[in-house]
Amino acid sequence: MSNFNIRLAYKEDLRSMYSVEKTSFAYPWSYDSFAENFYNAFSVYVLAENEYDGVVGFGGMQIIFDEAHIMNIAVKNDFRRKGIADGMLCFMMSYAKEKGAAKMFLEVRRGNSPAQALYLKHGFNVLTVRKNYYSDNGEDAIIMTAEL
Ligand SMILES: CC(C)(COP(=O)(O)OP(=O)(O)OC[C@H]1O[C@@H](n2cnc3c(N)ncnc32)[C@H](O)[C@@H]1OP(=O)(O)O)[C@@H](O)C(=O)NCCC(=O)NCCS
Repeated sequence: MSNFNIRLAYKEDLRSMYSVEKTSFAYPWSYDSFAENFYNAFSVYVLAENEYDGVVGFGGMQIIFDEAHIMNIAVKNDFRRKGIADGMLCFMMSYAKEKGAAKMFLEVRRGNSPAQALYLKHGFNVLTVRKNYYSDNGEDAIIMTAEL
């Protein structure tokens, strides 16, 4: 993980982050939805990069008063299992706390065990399950929360 830098993302990074989004999900967001979310006043995006590989991962959240909501986190396929999501999630959790959030929430597909393992490792617990939450394939959403 040491050779990747994690930092806040800016509008110049939008295309690179979207290319990670597009290759990371079976049902990626459209570019327009991705950009709209990025430009939302409550949104904060972080990314992982190095000078050889460019942007290899990103995470997005919204901080609304004392609650932070993770919108998305993804790492390019070839760069997984190197601790990059670990680093980005730590960055996001401490940034949200610094900005006054006391709790963090997220939703994850029932079948996404790598992501669930990541969140459990960082102290998230299951709050509830929303049946058939995802309109694309009807999958359940697991809602998880952590104290910051
Ligand atoms: C989930 C995802 C972001 C993890 O990224 P990553 O950089 O590979 O994760 P890390 O290497 O930082 O792993 C951190 C922890 O996550 C868990 N984890 C990550 N990948 C895992 C896998 N394939 N199987 C089991 N646990 C996994 C482990 O607990 C791991 O800690 P450990 O290495 O000490 O065991 C990545 O698999 C991804 O981009 N998936 C597609 C997009 C996605 O589903 N995003 C989540 C949306 S809710």
